[in-house]
Amino acid sequence: MIKENYNIDAKRPHIRLAKKEDLPELVDLENICFKEETFNKKQLEYLLLRAKSLVMVVSVDGKIIGSVIILLRAHISHARIYSLNVHPGYRRGGTGSLIMDTALKLLKERGTEKVTLEVEVNNKAAQSLYYSKDFSMDKMLKKYYKNGNDAMHLVKRL
Ligand SMILES: CC(C)(COP(=O)(O)OP(=O)(O)OC[C@H]1O[C@@H](n2cnc3c(N)ncnc32)[C@H](O)[C@@H]1OP(=O)(O)O)[C@@H](O)C(=O)NCCC(=O)NCCS
Repeated sequence: MIKENYNIDAKRPHIRLAKKEDLPELVDLENICFKEETFNKKQLEYLLLRAKSLVMVVSVDGKIIGSVIILLRAHISHARIYSLNVHPGYRRGGTGSLIMDTALKLLKERGTEKVTLEVEVNNKAAQSLYYSKDFSMDKMLKKYYKNGNDAMHLVKRL
């Protein structure tokens, strides 16, 4: 399973499981990364502490700059990437890729066979990241978001 820290050099991004104490920073990051469709503190608290989930954060020098929330299903080998964020000041530096590679590795280790996610049709950055990890679209979800935009439903078999 995942170790608490993958490396000990605080100046370099490292990825670890999220802890209860990370909640305020997770809320801040969520608000910085999304204008609509944001999770509030209560929702994030539920996802972090009570849901059957895998939540990981990337930190640099003690500051959280990226996160992922993955919902796990109790009896089926299916996981859903529910949220992925990288702080705007740290984008295009490989953090999103690091998060996805680590998450997919962990999910495979725990026996997950299928990973799904939704991404907005206009979100080319995220789509490009997901395609680079061999996700493919299986359907369109019309008017999926509050703003009326469609989502693409992507899937990857591990
Ligand atoms: C999508 C997101 C997580 C990518 O994080 P990141 O740390 O910038 O990603 P990386 O630097 O690891 O980039 C990995 C790949 O993603 C793609 N990518 C990332 N940003 C991109 C952009 N602005 N335009 C096009 N492709 C992009 C590229 O394929 C890139 O590979 P490359 O650098 O070899 O070209 C980040 O832009 C983000 O947090 N966006 C806001 C929140 C969001 O949209 N989350 C996803 C919801 S479904």
